[in-house]
Amino acid sequence: MRVLVVGGGGREHALVWKLSQSPEVEKIFCAPGNAGIASLAECIPVKAEEIEKLQRFARENDIHLTVVGPEAPLSAGITDLFRENGQLIFGPCREGALLEGSKVWAKQFMVEYGIPTAPFEIFKKPGEAYRFLEKASYPLVVKADGLAAGKGVIVAESFREASQAVRYIMEDKAFGVAGESLVMEEFLRGEEVSVFAVTDGDTCYPLAPVQDHKAIYEGDRGPNTGGMGAYSPAPVLTEQLSEKVNQDVFEPLLRGLKKEGINYRGVIFGGLMITPGSDLKVLEFNVRFGDPEAQVLLPRLQSDLCPLLYEAARGNLRLVPPPEWSFNTAVCVVLASQGYPGEYEKGKEIRGLEKVSEFKNTAVFHAGTAFKANQTVTAGGRVMGLTAWDPSLKEALDKAYKMAELINFEGKYYRRDIGYRALQRSADGEEA
Ligand code: AMP
Ligand code: GLY
Repeated sequence: MRVLVVGGGGREHALVWKLSQSPEVEKIFCAPGNAGIASLAECIPVKAEEIEKLQRFARENDIHLTVVGPEAPLSAGITDLFRENGQLIFGPCREGALLEGSKVWAKQFMVEYGIPTAPFEIFKKPGEAYRFLEKASYPLVVKADGLAAGKGVIVAESFREASQAVRYIMEDKAFGVAGESLVMEEFLRGEEVSVFAVTDGDTCYPLAPVQDHKAIYEGDRGPNTGGMGAYSPAPVLTEQLSEKVNQDVFEPLLRGLKKEGINYRGVIFGGLMITPGSDLKVLEFNVRFGDPEAQVLLPRLQSDLCPLLYEAARGNLRLVPPPEWSFNTAVCVVLASQGYPGEYEKGKEIRGLEKVSEFKNTAVFHAGTAFKANQTVTAGGRVMGLTAWDPSLKEALDKAYKMAELINFEGKYYRRDIGYRALQRSADGEEA
């Protein structure tokens, strides 16, 4: 099979890496890819958002299956375009992508189909939003409706901060049309976990749970990023809670999509808050694999990824058995450029990659990297994800951090506390 992977981050490197191990896969193309992906796939200079070019490329190059990494092409309707032309693609259609592309739509959908989520209000005019804030209690979460590259959610501690957020989103139009409406919702306390399922709209296979570290600084402080590290499994999601996720989240979600006439073939990604008392609430839905979540999920997947995605795209997911997972814990430590998620410099030489190439049960997933004059250089805020897996979480972390020391570039920054909640849990467990 000839496969095209759309995107060029760590998630896409992990997808290409796993697909390249499949006996079904003959050749992989990646658009646009990055310096690491280039060792496993032919990278083509087409951006993920250039959906017409991608459709033409897939037709002219006899691509059997296209796998979409990021949300932007899904929201732009890449799946509808491929389907109209009879080409197979893994990822939901434009309407399905509204689950991520419009927080207003997603919240209304959750209420309609009884999926647990935080209480909220929707605003289309700044005046009404300011009036609401005068009577609100704090902290309060202000969310721009549309896609905002992970920056559209602001946790406001006071009336002043919330008013600033409303002004920024609705009046300064910081995210353009994405800020024409906004959602304000109750701030929830608890522990976050990312849950995933692959579906063809009928059959639904939940994947292993992952915990992501979104904040830039240790102790989960500072502004949110795309994710500074992750680990799987995530012990916060007990077996009992996993069952609850299936019953209270995935089942009503699929029922709702069907009722709305949305033929969803792709990944559903729920960002959940496990609140005290083991209750769960959906903070957001995404319509793709998480990044860095995919970088720990895929190394734990023991079964073949290719038939899973292929049959989901064809609407025949029931023909493949549910995915199988290794007992290993996988961890990923993200190396970022100094300044991220704000301004940062690019083009710094990356050294030491050869020092970790022989490490067993590890993978270096490139994100913002490029080739320049025979060197691998930084080309983004998140530069790479260092993944290691082992039956012991501690061993896996030691290995990932050893790699983080050996790989160097000017301005390298990484969090040194990835997995701390799980480590704490196992320490508590040992004492008990
Ligand atoms: P979202 O894109 O809606 O998942 O929001 C991004 C991040 O903001 C989440 O991963 C949480 O860390 C935080 N967040 C969003 N909604 C809430 C909420 N209702 N209560 C507390 N934190 C939230
Ligand atoms: N790591 C969170 C996301 O992919 O949205």
